[in-house]
Amino acid sequence: MKKLELHTVVHLYDDIDELDQDSRDLMKEAIVARSNAYAPYSKFTVGCAIKLDDGTIIHGNNQENAAYPSGLCAERVAIFAAGANHPGKAIVKMAITASGIDNKFTKPVPPCGACRQSIAEYEMRQQQPLECYFMGASGNIAHVNSHKELLPLAFDKKYL
Ligand code: THU
Repeated sequence: MKKLELHTVVHLYDDIDELDQDSRDLMKEAIVARSNAYAPYSKFTVGCAIKLDDGTIIHGNNQENAAYPSGLCAERVAIFAAGANHPGKAIVKMAITASGIDNKFTKPVPPCGACRQSIAEYEMRQQQPLECYFMGASGNIAHVNSHKELLPLAFDKKYL
């Protein structure tokens, strides 16, 4: 038996003011995106802003449904919109913010596993890293240079 140890690097920022201008602006876009979430059932709102290599900004937010599993997370709403409307454009970075109605998290809220899998697909497809910043409603922000940091041992097309 051999042991495989995986090493993940996450950068932590105190708050939005510690980010560089470009990333701060993108997180502000994510906050705007979160304000448009449709989350009447969970009352947990998530906003995602994506920046493409041509500077285009795309918003996504969680879209819920009375048939609960029919809803979709903010990250996938955003990344699928990018894939659908801007084919061939690389995604440079994404910013995510999440907040409960009562619990306005000030610690980073990471993307769910299904979203990590979807994001990893786009990163592999574009063959260049896709940076991700994520926070709660405000406060501390986490940053990874690539989704490999968030989803090691990802399933991908080589297994098909
Ligand atoms: N949600 C997201 O939008 N992104 C995630 O990464 C985790 C969860 C949404 C889905 C649902 O509308 C609500 O948050 C509660 O799970």
